Amino acid sequence: MSCSIPVSPTTLTKTTFISQRALIKTHKNQTHGFRVTCNVAPNDDHNHLKLILPDIDRRSLLVGLGGLYTASNFPSLPAALADPITTPDITSSCKEADYGIKNLEKVVRTRKCCPPNIKKTIKPFVFPTEKTVKVRWPAHNGSKEQVEKYKRAIQAMKDLPEDHPHSFIQQAKIHCAYCNGGYTQVDSGFPDIDIQIHNSWLFFPYHRWYLYFYERILGKLINDPTFALPYWNWDNPAGMTIPEIFLNDTRTPNPLFDIYRDARHLPPQLVDLDFGGGERDTTSEIQIACNLSTVYRDLVRNGADTKSFFGGEYVAGDAPVANGDKSVGSVEAGCHIAIHRWVGDSTQANFEDLGNLYSAGYDPLFYAHHSNVDRMWTLWKSLGIQGHTEPTDPDWLNASYVFYDENEDLVRVYNKDCIKMDKLKYKYYEESESVFPWRKSRPAKRNKESQVALTSPGDVKTVNQLKFPVTLDAILKTRVKRPAVNRTDAEKAKANEVLLINGIKFDGEKYVKFDVFVNDTLKEGEVTTPCDPEYAGGFAQIPHSGMDKMMMSSAARFGLTELLEDTNTEGEEYATVTLVPRIGCDNLTISDIKIALVPI
Ligand code: C2O
Repeated sequence: MSCSIPVSPTTLTKTTFISQRALIKTHKNQTHGFRVTCNVAPNDDHNHLKLILPDIDRRSLLVGLGGLYTASNFPSLPAALADPITTPDITSSCKEADYGIKNLEKVVRTRKCCPPNIKKTIKPFVFPTEKTVKVRWPAHNGSKEQVEKYKRAIQAMKDLPEDHPHSFIQQAKIHCAYCNGGYTQVDSGFPDIDIQIHNSWLFFPYHRWYLYFYERILGKLINDPTFALPYWNWDNPAGMTIPEIFLNDTRTPNPLFDIYRDARHLPPQLVDLDFGGGERDTTSEIQIACNLSTVYRDLVRNGADTKSFFGGEYVAGDAPVANGDKSVGSVEAGCHIAIHRWVGDSTQANFEDLGNLYSAGYDPLFYAHHSNVDRMWTLWKSLGIQGHTEPTDPDWLNASYVFYDENEDLVRVYNKDCIKMDKLKYKYYEESESVFPWRKSRPAKRNKESQVALTSPGDVKTVNQLKFPVTLDAILKTRVKRPAVNRTDAEKAKANEVLLINGIKFDGEKYVKFDVFVNDTLKEGEVTTPCDPEYAGGFAQIPHSGMDKMMMSSAARFGLTELLEDTNTEGEEYATVTLVPRIGCDNLTISDIKIALVPI
């Protein structure tokens, strides 16, 4: 038989590259691990001999890619050459969360997040066969019956013994284990690299599956196959306060109530979908208008292509901490994080429950919030805009998670199986409606006449004149060259102009937010709001886990096509980009700022 066994992964160099490329190519056909298949004679009983190479340093593989990629200009292996993220057996391969949480002595929830082991083996997932489709309902507008069932189901969950896989606490811990370092990529040959389901293209599908099982477990507990979760309809003016059903009831204890919420943000306080730690001093009308613009921005302007909406590629061998272009999706970094922090109790050292990812699952409101986040995926798709499509990369399609299902069986589920909600037998109440309040909330175009001229070129340094990495301890203004000016409609239909802020390094245990403005011509003292066209959006993170247990890194993308139209600046050769630190940015650094045309 002919077979070349590669040298030990630790000695990978340029000279050994040929066999390494064969290695990467071959393993592409396998489920996980770096494997070599050898060509063998038909009667050789070593047919499909496989060699599993654990712990390959992906950066050394890159060295071998003939100089095409180097560790500095392409920090993660191209997804096309990698393996999907594969969750190991959650019962036997879980370690207790030990980081991502500051003020350890002050945590109010346990950090022991591993699921109970009831000695089950992982089964493949089977699609539900029932006829009923569960219809998720807006939490501010549920019928008496829907609300009553929901409360009964949550109460039943809370009544289970704590170590039952369906208990309220075990369900809450699922989030902590998947977020704060419970699982590693051991099944892909990387036992030292954790799995992280935030900050990448895993965000939407992972949370869809999580809610799918949560909903079915609740339905089973009250023996109701029609049981459906509510969604917190924060994208609709009528739903912009914490829904009533989650509030404290002085007469009968409410199972949907949670004591760890910010008391300042109870109704009638309107949610701030662009929350950045501080209270906004504004009228309800403006807050509502700004919220609608924020939803529009996350779904349309900044979610114009697959990667901008879903987040960057994340594959086996990638550390949750990456450098460069592993970007966070528009909704995840936008409305989603804003609400987490806005609800979390600011008098707690760790902003429990919603304000910290280790504890978020302890507030029943978390699931209603995520139900709406999941609905955003559906709405984004239903807009029918070109470019609004799910990733098709096999490494996204085949990424998998393990959950306890409603029958207490352990099942493995794949991203590819959650794309179609009808196969999962649930939908959203207003799914068929094509008009949503925020659909018309594109920020109003600037009036050209009243517009002040852009800062003259001499005043502001170009990106090339900056010394990267830059620290965002103060406002940063820079001019960035655009790849093209005055693009025609036909050109715009082919590619989206995107501002890329890469290599954002920040303290993973902190709440961080900075805002991005483009071609902002406002004078000193005037503030741009999310309703203004110059506001590109924000980058926000709530406390997380990180590979080196402190610094995390991510990237952000902001759509410029509409922004430049609305600010009458399509003809400018440079875009003036202003980054405004809001909170937690004193030691945040950025390694690169550029503008690119992203094909749709
Ligand atoms: Cu898993 Cu809202 O976070």
